[in-house]
Amino acid sequence: CGIVGYIGKRDVAPLLLEGLARLEYRGYDSAGIALHASGTGKSAGLKTAKAKGRVRELEARLPKRFAGTTGIAHTRWATHGAPTDDNAHPHLDTEGKVAVVHNGIIDNAAELRARLTADGIVFASETDTEVLAHLIGRSQAETLEEKVREALRHIEGTYGIAVLHSDFTDRIVVARNGSPVVLGIGEHEMFVSSDVAALVSHTRQVVTLDDGEMATLKADDYRTYTTEGSRTTATPETVEYAAESYDLGGHDTYMHKEIYEQADAVDRALRGRIDDRFSTVHLGGLNLDAREARTIRRVKILGCGTSYHAGQIGAQMIEELARIPSDAEPASEFRYRDPVVDPDTLYVAVSQSGETYDVLAAVQELKRKGARVLGLVNVVGSAIARETDGGIYVHAGPEVCVVSTKCFTNMVVSFALLALHLGRIRDLSVADGKRIIEGLRKLPGQIDEILKGEDEIKKLAARYADAKSMMFIGRVRGYPVAREASLKLKEVSYIHAEAYPASELKHGPLALIEPAMPTVAIVPDDDLLEKNRAALEEIKARSGRILAVAHQDQEKADDTVIVPKNEPELDPILLGIPLQLLAYHTALSLGRDIDKPRNLAKSVTVE
Ligand code: G6P
Repeated sequence: CGIVGYIGKRDVAPLLLEGLARLEYRGYDSAGIALHASGTGKSAGLKTAKAKGRVRELEARLPKRFAGTTGIAHTRWATHGAPTDDNAHPHLDTEGKVAVVHNGIIDNAAELRARLTADGIVFASETDTEVLAHLIGRSQAETLEEKVREALRHIEGTYGIAVLHSDFTDRIVVARNGSPVVLGIGEHEMFVSSDVAALVSHTRQVVTLDDGEMATLKADDYRTYTTEGSRTTATPETVEYAAESYDLGGHDTYMHKEIYEQADAVDRALRGRIDDRFSTVHLGGLNLDAREARTIRRVKILGCGTSYHAGQIGAQMIEELARIPSDAEPASEFRYRDPVVDPDTLYVAVSQSGETYDVLAAVQELKRKGARVLGLVNVVGSAIARETDGGIYVHAGPEVCVVSTKCFTNMVVSFALLALHLGRIRDLSVADGKRIIEGLRKLPGQIDEILKGEDEIKKLAARYADAKSMMFIGRVRGYPVAREASLKLKEVSYIHAEAYPASELKHGPLALIEPAMPTVAIVPDDDLLEKNRAALEEIKARSGRILAVAHQDQEKADDTVIVPKNEPELDPILLGIPLQLLAYHTALSLGRDIDKPRNLAKSVTVE
């Protein structure tokens, strides 16, 4: 979900719509705006507009007289209640004096709703957020700040909120607990959002609230304080990326743009980190000295979705280069299975947004049990980056398409850096260190080379787009590549796909193979090449169609995409890239909404 708010002198509705459009990647089930209408008498007061569906539907539905200079808005990814007009934010209290937009989840909403209903309050929606509007509306406190504070005392759960009140038209009050709130500092105007993406076209001066912090925004100033009311100091920081980084930059979709940004992104991840003298890398924020690094007996990587797959490749790299037993697990599984938290294990939380609730909750649980947790995160200053003991920023730059491409690549590159770093502290030789560094340096050029083959991949996509279902296979280093490629295809094209280790094919999934079920096979030129070729034979013998991604032409495959060879440990970084383009062109030929696949959202900040 996304929040945006503005207070100043400008006409607020167009500003909020623009902000919502920039936040749409965070949820696009429904959207809404509330503003303090300018004017006197009847025409004044709080006005709202809401619509199920995309921001452009809201825009089409705005009432004629919908002018003001202070307002808040929201784009939603449904959790409590279906995506309907009524369930869209902002939510109002009974008198229509309070408007609230909310990200996060109120755990005790049902209980509060029952209590309020017993007191005679009639709810207009099924959302958890509406309880907040009523609690604020009923508060007898004098100031809006106190009313909000009082309401929040009843709330268990997570929130990023922005509140308007028709008796306090000179301000917006915001609060954060577990869901981001960023203030944008302008000249005689202030902004607020859950994401800098909605702010950067207006200001790059931002203040990120901490959990347990609130703020009051007025046109000419702002102040921050704790939910208990004591003042906090907030020094504005400058956002790293300019507004253009959030634009399409001549591409038709963000996915296409982001696929093409990968060479630069990898270059950024490497910049300033390579140490040729000792054939290793410097990772400034890691906060793990050599002595500690030597005591690690296991590495456990936690993430969700694409980031989990990046973690699987990362675990493989760490195990190979640093010879530390390593594995990756979905953060959600980990936190629900009461895991043994081992003091000799290094935990690594991997996340693009740094906000994914399941990952954050796993980190908090680990910290509570005294574990050492590093973050491998894209968004600087995000919740997971703040909660961890140290870590690596992956520096992929803003990623807007819901499906992750460049960030995935940079995560894997960052894991390679971590693996090299740990390896060189432990038993990886200088020569091997040098070999990996040379390989890393070759990556940006090789990525550009792969992208030159786009036309060819587009033709292949047209050939396979009629498939109802596809199988992706790989072995050891290639298996997580197959898993990620299969996820990419599913997310963006809605074609069913599953990924299997090539070796497991004969233990079951081979039963599915027939001409209508094509297989994408990851076949690197490494010591498992012959084994992989055998799997291709098995498929061919059952009349299966095969698209291979390989370092050399595969005779058994119907089609082969050839990818340049790097060092075997780093090859997984490159093998998946043509398959991003395959997913993209398949989805395009099927007329899918590439940047906003149905039912998904970029950041899942709820359980
Ligand atoms: C959502 C997105 C996925 C993403 C996952 C983890 O499900 O749709 O694309 O991989 O969250 O996100 P994170 O920000 O933690 O990497």
